[in-house]
Parts: sequence; C-alpha cells; structure tokens
Amino acid sequence: MFKRVKGTQDILDLSLFNFVIEQFKKQMALYHFNEISTPIIEPTELFKRSLGLQTDVVTKEMFVICPRDEKENETICLRPEATASFVRAFVENGIQTKPWKVFSYGPMFRYERPQKGRYRQFHQINMEIIGAQSIDYDAQLIKMLDRYFSEILTLNNYALLINFLGCSKDREKYRPVLYSYLEKHSDKLCKTCIDRKEKNIMRVFDCKNETCKELYKKAPKLIDHLCTTCSEEWQQLKSDLELLSVSYSVDSTLVRGLDYYNKTVFVFSSESLGAQKEFCGGGRYDQLVKEVGAKEDQPSVGAAIGMERLILLLKPIRNNLPLKQLPALHVILPMSKKQQLLALIIANELHVHNLCTDVFLDGDSMKSMMRKANKMGASYCLILGDDEQKEHTVTIKNMLNGDEKKIAQSEIVNYLNK
Ligand code: HAM
Repeated sequence: MFKRVKGTQDILDLSLFNFVIEQFKKQMALYHFNEISTPIIEPTELFKRSLGLQTDVVTKEMFVICPRDEKENETICLRPEATASFVRAFVENGIQTKPWKVFSYGPMFRYERPQKGRYRQFHQINMEIIGAQSIDYDAQLIKMLDRYFSEILTLNNYALLINFLGCSKDREKYRPVLYSYLEKHSDKLCKTCIDRKEKNIMRVFDCKNETCKELYKKAPKLIDHLCTTCSEEWQQLKSDLELLSVSYSVDSTLVRGLDYYNKTVFVFSSESLGAQKEFCGGGRYDQLVKEVGAKEDQPSVGAAIGMERLILLLKPIRNNLPLKQLPALHVILPMSKKQQLLALIIANELHVHNLCTDVFLDGDSMKSMMRKANKMGASYCLILGDDEQKEHTVTIKNMLNGDEKKIAQSEIVNYLNK
C-alpha cells in the first residue's frame, strides 16, 4: 500500500476550506484586490535572493528539483511562499498599475518537521499591495484581515502582535547595540543563538529556548532606535489601528522568519493552536522589488494566511458558520438491469434541469439501494420497476416522511422543482 508523503495531507472534506476561500474572495473584491495566479515552480535563486541566504526556509526547507537536462543550469524549486513570486510577476510583466493590489491562494512547500499545524505541503492565501508608500496601507490591510477573522469568520480567540523593524539604516545602527548586549550574556545563550548572533543577529528573537527568551525580554529594542521618519511612521501605524478599532499588542521581539521585511511586521496568533500558533503573518518590504530585478524600489506590504491553521481554529465553530448548503439530492433506483437505460435517460433529463441526481447502476437489491440512498441523505428516491417502465411512470418516495406516489415520467422535473 502506498502512503502519502510525510507532511502532506488528503483533504477529504473541502467544505470549510472552500467556505474560507469564497468568503475571502468576497472580502478581496470589496477592498478592490484582483485575483492572480503564479506558478508553483520558480527559480531557486528567486527565493535565495528575496528571503535571505541565512533564513531557515532557504538553508533547510527548500524542495529543490534537480534539472533533467544538463544544459538547463538553473535549478528550480517548489515555492515555499508567494510574495517573491508576486514580486517577480510584477517586475517580469512590467506592471504599471500602482498600487498593484493582488491576491491568490494555493499550495506552498517547506521541508519542515511535521507536527500539528505544520506541514511540508500547506496552503496559503496570499495578498500583496505593491507600490504602496504610505504606512496607512499597512493599517488598512491589518484592519481588513482583522475584520475577516472576527466579523466574517466570527473568531474571537486570537491576538494581533505588531512590531516595527525600521529602515535598513536603523537596523544597521541597532545591530551593534544588540550584539554588545548578547556578548554580555553569551554564557546564557543557546548554541543556535550564538551562531545567529554572528550570521543573522535579528533572528535570535525567533529562539524558542526559555532562557534565551527571558534574556531577550530585557534586550534593547529596535523601536527605541528608529530614525525620525520611521519613528513617525510607527506612531502613525499605532494611531491608525487605534482609530480603526483594531486591538493589538506590541511585541518588540517579533522579527518574522524572512529577511525581506522592513518597518511594519505583524502576526495573528491563537493559543488554541498549540505550538504552531501563528495563522497569519505579514509586513512591509520596501526593497524587495529592486532586489528581484526592477530598476526602482517599490514600497510594498502584504500578508499570508495559513489555511490549515485557520481551519483548525474554525473546526470547533463550524456549525455556527453559514457553510454552503448542498442542493437536495435525488436518487434513481432501477429495480433490475432492464430499467438501467431508462434510469440513465431520466437522470440526464434531471441534470439538464439542474437537479442534483445520482443513479445506482450496479444492480443491487432494493433494500440495499434504499439503505445507501438514506445514508447519502437523499430527499427523494425515484423507483423504476417493470410496471413503471410499462406505464411510463415512476414511484417517487419522499425520504423525509416516507410518502410514496406514482407520477408520469414527463412530470418528474415539475414535481421535484416544486
Ligand atoms: P510566513 O509567516 O512564512 O509568511 O507564512 C504565513 C503563514 O503560513 C504562517 O503564519 C502560517 O500560518 C502558515 N505556514 C507557514 N509555514 C507553514 C507550514 N509548514 N505548515 C502550515 N502552515 C504554515 C509568508 O509566507 C510571507 N510570504 C507572508 C507575506 C506576504 N508577507 C508579506 N506578504
């Protein structure tokens, strides 16, 4: 027996998944975003360049595909995220519309250790505003997400954490300050943090080790080392969120795992999810467009929702959500092989009239077909035996109250539509 690949899943009931997507599409239309689609495979170099060579995603988690043809010297990979692809698409297609407000959803791939809420193939809804200078865009995006989670999906068990990473000059000035703090406490740091201190110092804040986390609570904060412009933007972001009635907490250790961010970063997280508690994350990336090949920078901001984690949050309240109602199901039961062709013809007629219809074609006993129809939640069973065939009629059984009635075959559509 074959088993699915580690860290992947078979989703056998997509109703909640589709509900989340449909509601999000409505929300995106309301905020004037367009849906786009980019490939699942991309040049590996795109992510190396954009996410950063020292990030976990690039160093450990990429699904790289070896080229089949030696002449193709470019390696490709399964996308680990979508922001870099959106930016590549913006540059490659010479998009002139600014801001370019776009979204998409689909599978992403990261070679991570699988656990609850963490997969190697998972799904994201990704949204970006490329060419968005004002920090007010960040506030509007956060408000839109907060409305989606709280009003549309009726979630209340989550928190919004925000931080401000300043501009590259701010971080340049801040790094030595943090470095000397870490040097002072290097005897308490874990091995990974000692390594990160040298290679990618801000990443120490991602450490899960309790002693390190305790130490970082008292570490100098980047938000206290912002230049005047960034400081004003940080104040503006906070006051925008307050004016828009978005509850948030400032987490000065929030740096996010991807190197392209500057200024605003945020995550929506829920303790109900356990260890993998972040179900949405995003932020501003003002240098990425140039990094990916454009002549000029385009200040931009975006976010991605982790579908699997969002679904985990929604499962307990599933029954309160207005999920799509399935149409009434009608099942045709031919009593013997002789009635099967007629059953097919009638089924076709019902399908033409948009009536959801199934038909049993394996010659099971009446009792077994009735049991199956009941299990499938059929509203009406249409029974076809020798008599019905001769008389051009059908016996219709109402599966809710058990009433049976014989009607002309030409009347079926009218009857079921009523
Ligand atoms: P990210 O934080 O790496 O950001 O991923 C966004 C969300 O995807 C996470 O909050 C989480 O819910 C979900 N996620 C990530 N990895 C996994 C996994 N292995 N299994 C299940 N869910 C996962 C980004 O990807 C950025 N591109 C977001 C962004 C868009 N920033 C600006 N624009």
